[in-house]
Amino acid sequence: MAFKRPSILIFLFLVLTAAGQITAADDPVPAPWPHQFHALMFMNYSGDLSMIDLWYDWTNGRNFNIIQEQLGGITYDLEWNNGTSFIYTVDESRSCRSVQLEVGILRPNWLDGAKYLGQQNVNGFLCNVWEKVDFIWYYEDVATKRPVQWIFYTGREAHVMTYEVGAVLEDEKWQAPVYCFDKEKKKKGIAIEGALREFKEKAAL
Ligand SMILES: *[C@@H]1O[C@H](CO)[C@@H](O)[C@H](O)[C@H]1NC(C)=O
Ligand SMILES: *[C@@H]1O[C@H](CO)[C@@H](O)[C@H](O)[C@H]1NC(C)=O
Repeated sequence: MAFKRPSILIFLFLVLTAAGQITAADDPVPAPWPHQFHALMFMNYSGDLSMIDLWYDWTNGRNFNIIQEQLGGITYDLEWNNGTSFIYTVDESRSCRSVQLEVGILRPNWLDGAKYLGQQNVNGFLCNVWEKVDFIWYYEDVATKRPVQWIFYTGREAHVMTYEVGAVLEDEKWQAPVYCFDKEKKKKGIAIEGALREFKEKAAL
């Protein structure tokens, strides 16, 4: 009896790894995100347009969205891997709120397990397309493996305009303004901005 359970486990292990290898061999998988990159994103949320300056920095556990609304203000959404986000402006209103999430920034392999949907032509780029947990549709250029766009189930679209692998924003730019620390203005909830907002909400559930 003592030997029975381990042998079943080994059998299951072999079956599952074989099955995993078959699907992995058939379908392309999304390239993991580089540990550091800079992207300019054109966002469209049901006709509300914005530009996001995105600095993804897994190495230092931080992610920055600098959001320019069309003919409007700029919002800074600075996320740390400990779950703290600072969302602030640097205009005369000097507003800042901090949000504490259960999750940190997205991991470089956050697209693991996405379901492959085939190829599609997007704005002149032949893309592989994946869908993850009915939340996000992700389009990657077949030739260069760079992301071209992603679209959330809400209809929010992020179009990648530039993609600089290895680019890092200088440390001093990551300092939230002093008025963010004036008083305890912590609010439990979800940041409303950012290029990956919906996915973070999902991860936080
Ligand atoms: C933004 O998206 C809407 C659909 O939600 C579309 O009608 C509109 O043409 C898009 N605007 C731009 C500039 O892409
Ligand atoms: C998370 O890290 C940031 C940057 O170091 C810091 O300002 C913030 O207070 C930290 N949050 C928590 C909950 O420790």
